[in-house]
Amino acid sequence: MNILVIGSGGREHAIIAKLKENEKVNTIYALPGNAGIAQVAECVGIAATDISAIVNWAEQNKPDFAVVTPDDPLALGCVDALEAIGIPCFGPTAKAAQIEASKVFAKDLMKKYGIPTAAYEVFESFQSAKEYLQSGISYPTVIKADGLALGKGVTIAANREQALQALEDAMQNKVFGESGSRVVIEEYLEGPEVSVLAFTDSKTVVPMVSSMDHKRALDNDEGLNTGGMGTVAPNPYYTAAVANRCMEEIFLPTINAMNREGRPFKGCLYFGLMLTEKGPKVIEYNCRFGDPETQVVLPLLESDLLEIMMAVREEKLAEADVKFADKCACCVIKASKGYPQKYQSGFPIEIGTLPTDCAIFFAGVKADASGRLCTGGGRVLGVSAVAASAKEAVALAYKGAECVHFENEFMRKDIGSKALKALEK
Ligand code: AMP
Ligand code: GLY
Repeated sequence: MNILVIGSGGREHAIIAKLKENEKVNTIYALPGNAGIAQVAECVGIAATDISAIVNWAEQNKPDFAVVTPDDPLALGCVDALEAIGIPCFGPTAKAAQIEASKVFAKDLMKKYGIPTAAYEVFESFQSAKEYLQSGISYPTVIKADGLALGKGVTIAANREQALQALEDAMQNKVFGESGSRVVIEEYLEGPEVSVLAFTDSKTVVPMVSSMDHKRALDNDEGLNTGGMGTVAPNPYYTAAVANRCMEEIFLPTINAMNREGRPFKGCLYFGLMLTEKGPKVIEYNCRFGDPETQVVLPLLESDLLEIMMAVREEKLAEADVKFADKCACCVIKASKGYPQKYQSGFPIEIGTLPTDCAIFFAGVKADASGRLCTGGGRVLGVSAVAASAKEAVALAYKGAECVHFENEFMRKDIGSKALKALEK
């Protein structure tokens, strides 16, 4: 089988690595992929958002199956377009991808179907949003741009001034373009955060092993929000009792709600959860695998990823084998200094011999004129490790990360430390 994977990050690299374990897989085309992914797949220089170019390419090259991972091509209807020309796909339709592409849609869905989430109000005008800030609400409060905003559309405002600034940026200065023309203002929730990725074919939901992301740029959860600086799996706060409750109160109700709305969701649904004193609540849905969650979840998957993805497409997930190893994983991201703001790139990447049970997943990399692998983005690569315990997985990921060097590098030194503390209790 020849498989098309759309996307260019560490997440896609991890997906490709897992798909390659299936003996039926012949060529994997990564579109556009990156210079590191080119070591394991054939990269095609088409942007993931150029749907008509993707369709043209697919018509000529006829892949047997396609996996669409990033949020924007999903929201733009990449799966709809490929299915329309007869290419079976893993991923939601544009209608189902709205669960991530519009926060207003997601919040209204949760309200309508009684799925636990933060209390919220939606605003379409700057004036009414501003008045709401002055109506005696409590701080901190959370301001969210409605649409996709490269993971930067959420502001936790400590006071009215910060909230007003966030509103001005989104609604008046249009820093997120049209994505900020509507905003959600919601209650600030507290508690440990958990990421749960789940396979679903709209009938059955099969959650994968849970994980913990580290979104802030600096140690001790300081600095700016990023796409994610590292992950550990499983998440120690996500006990069997919490998992059961999430299945009953959140996962199944969400799938049923999407069916009732005529938007059956097929693919990977990502539940961003906050375990509050009043129980688990949804912070956000993503219509796709998380990055860098995938880099710890898939290395623990013992079953065949391609078989699962095909079962999802055929609505036969209930019959699929989905097993995870009883082990732990950690992923440490090595980034360019300055990320998530300005940074320099183009520095050669030196890679020594990695310890066993360690893997590198490439993200922001490019090849220089002589074909050497260089830095080419904010999050350059992730080093993932699998071990018997969380402590060993964290130590091994850092040992692996020490085998990789480039100028201007930085990484967090405390990935997994919160999880390890929770395990000690
Ligand atoms: P998002 O871009 O939607 O993933 O949100 C970024 C981060 O903001 C989340 O991972 C949470 O840490 C935080 N966040 C979002 N919504 C809330 C909320 N209602 N209360 C507290 N923190 C939140
Ligand atoms: N790591 C968070 C995300 O993929 O959105």
